[in-house]
Amino acid sequence: MSLFYALAYLLAAVLFILGLKQLSSPKTARNGNFTAAAGMVIALGATVPQLHFTAAGALIILIGVVIGAAVGTIGARQVKMTQIPQMVALFNGAGGAAAALVAVAELVKFGAHPPLTEALPSVFSIVIGSVSFAGSLVAFAKLQELMTGTPITYPGQQLVNGLLAAAIFGFVIAVLAIASIPFSFLALMLLALILGVAFVLPIGGADMPVVISLLNAFTGLAVAASGFTLNNFALIVAGTLVGASGSLLTKLMSDAMGRSLGNVLFGAFGKVQAVAGAAAGKEGRTVRTGSVEDLATLLAYSRRVIIVPGYGLAVAQAQHAVRELADLLEKRGVEVNYAIHPVAGRMPGHMNVLLAEANVPYEQLKEMDEINDEFKNADVVLVVGANDVVNPAARNTPGSPIYGMPILNADQAKNIVFMKRSMRPGFAGIDNDLLYDPKTIMLFGDAKDSLTKLVSAVKAA
Ligand code: TAP
Repeated sequence: MSLFYALAYLLAAVLFILGLKQLSSPKTARNGNFTAAAGMVIALGATVPQLHFTAAGALIILIGVVIGAAVGTIGARQVKMTQIPQMVALFNGAGGAAAALVAVAELVKFGAHPPLTEALPSVFSIVIGSVSFAGSLVAFAKLQELMTGTPITYPGQQLVNGLLAAAIFGFVIAVLAIASIPFSFLALMLLALILGVAFVLPIGGADMPVVISLLNAFTGLAVAASGFTLNNFALIVAGTLVGASGSLLTKLMSDAMGRSLGNVLFGAFGKVQAVAGAAAGKEGRTVRTGSVEDLATLLAYSRRVIIVPGYGLAVAQAQHAVRELADLLEKRGVEVNYAIHPVAGRMPGHMNVLLAEANVPYEQLKEMDEINDEFKNADVVLVVGANDVVNPAARNTPGSPIYGMPILNADQAKNIVFMKRSMRPGFAGIDNDLLYDPKTIMLFGDAKDSLTKLVSAVKAA
């Protein structure tokens, strides 16, 4: 490889890393996408001239690029914000499949006895890429509700999965030590596809973002291995970055949910949820409801209001309405901030993306650690479609599915207003004592409707 191409790859790698850095803050995330995309254009620009295509080969690749770009662009433009996790799953699955197919093509090229330096990364790509592809498709189907989102379990499931993994290991040894014939690496691929499906089936639909992040890391590693096979530095760097950032994101999400990765992958959380939800009756306890007018007065005459957005805000698409309310209050001299829990909603950065869409000023968005000491000074905390992220059971109830999850200290505010449609629990399926707190006022209804009514009432207050 000439110095020119090496420098181009180096520049691409620097842009990937800068892009990732920019993605870590909502202020710079949009630019981060462009920076990383520029790196990808440079990497592609440096790779294509090094390949020696036949005219037919070039045409096939061009057709593939056009179809892929069209599907990607149309898909990404049309997808609703609440469907982003399943879109990521699909794109990620495509990456895993590509890595596996490239590896198969390389093994075919090298014949029955490829050198170990080629065979090892190739079988790695086939196994990991195929697991990632099949697992991502199941994750997509669960999130898109094409199949049940509840964990699918059966007796001896872990044993079956273990046997599948053992069979894959056997074929890996066969390919490496005996002969790399199409039967062996196609069998390897098939078994890995089955393992991908079997691995994701017992995981509940709402845990899919964590699984997708893990599968994303898998795809990154498969792509990095393809980079070794193809001797392409850009692939090695990009794949390793995806592998590392996907792994870190998986860990951060599990930590923010107060659960181990093992519990997410093997705990069949949706099943626990159903049982816990059913057992969580709080008969005999009363909740306080308020009128829109009373709440508007409470908000309009507060000094400090903290808004806690959650999954229901996304479902109701109430981001513009909440911003309108916050703007109105600020105009009246009320200090308004948004408290963002790291796993509010259903995907990493869900609330940031949603509120950015409504142009909520970044300075008003506060991370959990930044704002948790401020709740005690808040006159009102307005919980909009959130539940688990403010549930004190995470602190007080050992044995609760969310025990140990760090939560927002909404219970410390002087008044707590919950906007939700019913007394139904959130993702974890457990009752929330805060709904019954004497300081709490419930405003039942769709978050967007309630906020729109509140906006009119605050204008009149
Ligand atoms: P949840 O605890 O799931 O609560 C959402 C609440 O929104 C529900 O109680 C629901 O109550 C309400 N809601 C739904 N639609 C609504 C609408 N149209 N208008 C008003 N309210 C509506 O949400 P959260 O507090 O954001 O917590 C997130 C949960 O998801 C955590 O348990 C977290 O661990 C989990 N999770 C998060 C992620 C990431 S990465 N963010 C990934 C996987 C899992 P009603 O039905 O009564 O309206």
